[in-house]
Amino acid sequence: MRRGRFITFEGGEGTGKSTQARRLATHLRARGHEVVETREPGGSPGAEAVRHVLLSGAAEPLGPSAEAMLFAAARADHVDTLIRPALAAGRIVVCDRFLDSTRVYQGALGAVPAALLDALEQVAAGAARPDLTFVLDVPSEIGLARAAGRGAAADRFEAQGADYHGKVRAAFLARAAADPARCVVVDASGPADAVEAEIARLADARLSAPAGAS
Ligand code: TYD
Repeated sequence: MRRGRFITFEGGEGTGKSTQARRLATHLRARGHEVVETREPGGSPGAEAVRHVLLSGAAEPLGPSAEAMLFAAARADHVDTLIRPALAAGRIVVCDRFLDSTRVYQGALGAVPAALLDALEQVAAGAARPDLTFVLDVPSEIGLARAAGRGAAADRFEAQGADYHGKVRAAFLARAAADPARCVVVDASGPADAVEAEIARLADARLSAPAGAS
């Protein structure tokens, strides 16, 4: 069976992931691909219900391991009902945040043990692993200023201080460095149009290679 491709966007607050994910989806559709755009936490009705619990901070008193389990519960539903069927149908799935966010926020920042995260990853995602991950990188002061400029109230994770966001940035860069065949770090501090063009170029190059090639 032909399998589609799975592209994820990762990075800290205000890196422009959501904008760039949307623009890449538009670019890929214009090139004739069938594209499914989605996001985490959420992306399916069951997962969106859990998203509210996580981002409101209602689960925070339960601790980072419990939060990791909730992110995984949401992910399992998202993968089962949306991502896996789309990949099986040969579509390109573009997802705003996925496994790397759990490794960064719950793992590196929350100190949830890697063994628990390994197990949750296996249960929630199984074989649905990204083929290509764009790690959008901006200095955390710029990211926080951009996120604040959106005007919406800060969620449970955005409300953390500058030191926390510096650690988030470093942890994403470490993830990317550990898996260079899958991850590409994109400097997202410039104009959105220039970032978009660079991402489109990288995605086109990767998609013209056979599935599984890096
Ligand atoms: P969201 O409003 O989607 O914001 P963003 O624009 O930053 O993507 O918020 C998602 C928040 O959830 C974000 O602060 C990171 C956090 N998160 C985790 O802690 N673990 C995860 O596994 C995922 C997917 C997200």
